[in-house]
Parts: sequence; C-alpha cells; structure tokens
Amino acid sequence: MENYTLYANSIEYSVKMKSSEKLFGLLMGIRSPSRYHHCIRVSSYAGIIGGAMGMSRKQVRCLEIAGLIHDIGFSAINDNILEKRTTLTPDEYAYIQLHPIIGMKILDCYGFPQDIMKAVVEHHEAFDGSGYPLGLKREQIGIYGKILFLSEYFDTITTDTPYKNASSIDEAIQSVKQLSNKKFDPELVDTLLNSEEISHFYMHKESICKNYPVPGSNLDSIITF
Ligand SMILES: [Fe+2]
Ligand SMILES: [Fe+2]
Repeated sequence: MENYTLYANSIEYSVKMKSSEKLFGLLMGIRSPSRYHHCIRVSSYAGIIGGAMGMSRKQVRCLEIAGLIHDIGFSAINDNILEKRTTLTPDEYAYIQLHPIIGMKILDCYGFPQDIMKAVVEHHEAFDGSGYPLGLKREQIGIYGKILFLSEYFDTITTDTPYKNASSIDEAIQSVKQLSNKKFDPELVDTLLNSEEISHFYMHKESICKNYPVPGSNLDSIITF
C-alpha cells in the first residue's frame, strides 16, 4: 500500500507541474466515453436524490459536480488494468481501490472545496463499513459520499457491461431494497425509491447522455461554486 501512496503523491506533483492544464484535460483523462457517461448518470441520480431530500440549490450543485468527477482518480490508472477482461490480481484490485484517494488528491491540486473532495474520497464507502478505501461506516460517512455511493450502485447495476447485462429498473429497486441498512443508508434508499424523477431519468438516460454537452472551453461556467 505504501507504494500506491507514493504513486498518488507523484500524481499530485505532476498535476502541480502542469498547472496550465485545465480540468477538462483531466476529465477527458477518464479516457472512456462509457465511464464518462457513467459519471453523468451518477451526477444526475445524486442531484435528484439531494433535491428530493430538500437540499439547497447550492448543495445539489455540489453533489452534481462531485458526481461528474467522482471517478477522476481513474485518470491515473492504466487502461490495461481498468479494461482488463480477466480476474484482477490482488495488487491490481488494491490499486483500483485507491482511485477515490487519487481523485481527492487531484482535486486538491485544483483547489476544489472540501465538500467535493470529501464526497469523492467517500464515494465507495458503505453504510455497514464494508466499503473502501477507509471502511468508514454510518455517521462517519458524509451525506454526499453516501448519496454518490447509492447513485454509483444504481447506475452500475442498470448499465450493460462486458461482464453482465443491465438489470431492469424493477430488479434494481429490489436489489437496492435488499441492501438498505446494509450497504446503504435507509433514509436515502427510501428517497430514491419514492422519487418519480429517478424513474423518469432512467427512462431517458440514453438520450440525455448523448446530448450532454462535452465540457470544454466553457468549463469555468460548469464549475461554479
Ligand atoms: Fe463510478
Ligand atoms: Fe469509483
């Protein structure tokens, strides 16, 4: 693990050295349209859940931004590992599990607010402590991190991958229900399951992703706190 920490530190260093590089480059560093679209969907699900919980517009925007860049740590991980079709070695798996920490370090270099960095580093922490990278549980995990984790799961099981077919929305709902109070905060599960907006987004997610504006020169207007 020490080696990986050193590697993460070297990422921080190299990002600082390229201070003229825009976040756009890092976003595109995710390198994969499918991963990028996953980030758009996670951002949307998270924003919908936050809104349904009565969060302020600013908090919802914070969640949406965190969702959009939650996997930016992947930009530091080689595609040979990310796209590997065979079983990952324990070292490779441990490496991938560092992407929330790497992501937080990248965002720190760009001066992102603490709320967003905390959300990114916690987006794989589970309510019962079985998540990573720190194995936090319950109230140790911030509300943004909890929402991102649920959004991440919901999108992952409702999306086709080379390894599995997507679950239907009914199957996804059943799965989320079963994991309530285990992987996920039950209050958030109730919010997700009672949201008509989630179903609406799910129905139209393909066309929404296709039409999503690619961040570019207008990035400064996208990232407004
Ligand atoms: Fe993700
Ligand atoms: Fe992730």
